[in-house]
Amino acid sequence: MNSASMTSNRRTVSLVSLGLSLLLCGCGDAPKARFSWSKETDDLTPMANAWVKRAVLQNFGTPNELVAWERLPVEYGGFAGTVTAVETVEGGGTKLTVKRGEGTTAPASARQLLWKSGARVDEAEPDGVASIVAGETESTVLMAQRLDPVPDVGDEFVLNPGNRLLDGRRSYLKNCMHCHGVAGDGAGPTARYLNPLPRDFRRGVMKFTSTRPGERVSRDDLARTIRDGIPGTYMPSFLLMAPEEMTAVIEYVRWLSMRGEFEKRLNDELKDFSRTAIAEQGKNARLEYEAAVKNDPDAERPPTADELATRAEEDFRGMAEDLEFVFVDAGDLMAGPWERADATDNIITPSIARVADTPESREKGRVLYLSQKTKCYTCHGSTGKGDGPATEDFWAITGSSETYPERGLHDEWGHLVPPRDLTRGQYRGGRRPIDVFRRLYAGIKGTPMPAFGGTGLTDEEIWHLVNYVMAMPFEGPSTTTANPSPTVATSR
Ligand code: HEC
Ligand code: HEC
Repeated sequence: MNSASMTSNRRTVSLVSLGLSLLLCGCGDAPKARFSWSKETDDLTPMANAWVKRAVLQNFGTPNELVAWERLPVEYGGFAGTVTAVETVEGGGTKLTVKRGEGTTAPASARQLLWKSGARVDEAEPDGVASIVAGETESTVLMAQRLDPVPDVGDEFVLNPGNRLLDGRRSYLKNCMHCHGVAGDGAGPTARYLNPLPRDFRRGVMKFTSTRPGERVSRDDLARTIRDGIPGTYMPSFLLMAPEEMTAVIEYVRWLSMRGEFEKRLNDELKDFSRTAIAEQGKNARLEYEAAVKNDPDAERPPTADELATRAEEDFRGMAEDLEFVFVDAGDLMAGPWERADATDNIITPSIARVADTPESREKGRVLYLSQKTKCYTCHGSTGKGDGPATEDFWAITGSSETYPERGLHDEWGHLVPPRDLTRGQYRGGRRPIDVFRRLYAGIKGTPMPAFGGTGLTDEEIWHLVNYVMAMPFEGPSTTTANPSPTVATSR
């Protein structure tokens, strides 16, 4: 039996008609694995916690039973088509003549066929396929059994539903999971030995992208990361991975990111129902009481921890109806940016070609580097060694009034990120001039490395900086305070 077969299928029309969700079970090949929950989910009070888990499970499933939520811009795979003729084979199954849907090619073999319209749409199991003869426009599909009820001409179906996501999962569990974790939380068994840590995909944020500031990662960016690896880190290069496998694993990484982001969006909505927030409420009420009781011995006593917990559960129950909308909103808010990520006008394209790499251009770059306009030197240091004064500061935790306990810059995941030593010429986001241009234009997402494009610097200024930065490893640190010497500049 083929390992990635879909052994069960349940169609659930999600809350408020979000569309179709298919249960893609690839049981048989995958080791029993479990998606971990975020620590914010674990911190929720029992009802909120159960609600978040249910919402995530309903729309994403488990590693062994993936759910394909059609609301999301994920290419789940499968060959979509329409029936053009139906014939019953003597002593055998049903033969379908089918027309392929737009943008898909008929597979050479197929295992299962899932109906999307017509009389068979409510069948509990997808229909088994005996064989397929793929043609240019029309193909013939011989079904393993005689179909009853009989499909009609015009009925829509998908062959091999979800096969790309299932292939992606298989590759991910084999090649990526030990570092990035089953849920993409960056906490696989190997992770604790690594610095920097593997990316936690669950914020929907990736660092090295070609997309505009604030936008999601594109499929091409993911392909570059997986193909080339990330130099200077443990992220390996999968240069020899077959193109179809690469496409599948990219889709799976996007899907995992969306799963994590969905969970995070629900957590953000429900943070008043976290144990931490309730403890904080309790503390504030006690402080208020202590102040009030000084003037008024009969001041109302503050609620106990148990009372606060009960109140939270009651409030949560009262909100239950609105929660359906929270859920729909979270899905919609998430789909937009992921859909946009690959659009051509979302990819940073310099308005002018690279400025010639001359001593004059590098000098302009040097002046900008040391200017108050960019403040590059405050992080990367005036000699580019990554030792600027900002590395000595205590930095604020994003979205909080508190600072990290240790000195130095941190990324959104709370890990220390030393500014790059630019004299080493190692570029994690790609070493072509256009890659460095994009890094300066959009910054490094999720890190303090700022975006300079659009409003801050002109494209021409960014090219001068690219020329200067890329020459640093060859010119040595001394030239960052003196004029670069033309002999060094032309010797490259
Ligand atoms: C040996 C450990 C290891 C393995 C195996 C591994 N990675 Fe990574 N990966 C990392 C590390 C470490 C980073 C973070 C590097 C950094 O922060 O600069 C990373 C980062 C990434 C990123 C984030 C890129 C960005 O722009 O932020 C993606 C995407 C990624 N890996 C995908 C994969 C995929 C897909 C696989 C399997 C095909 C895989 N990784 C296998 C260690 C690993
Ligand atoms: C607020 C601090 C800060 C400022 C200001 C800053 N950077 Fe960075 N920069 C960083 C950090 C932190 C990283 C490493 C992030 C990571 O890899 O996670 C980095 C990384 C880089 C990289 C490496 C890119 C790669 O692909 O590996 C380059 C190049 C760079 N910065 C250039 C600049 C230039 C040029 C400027 C000024 C125009 C600048 N930076 C301003 C903090 C800063």
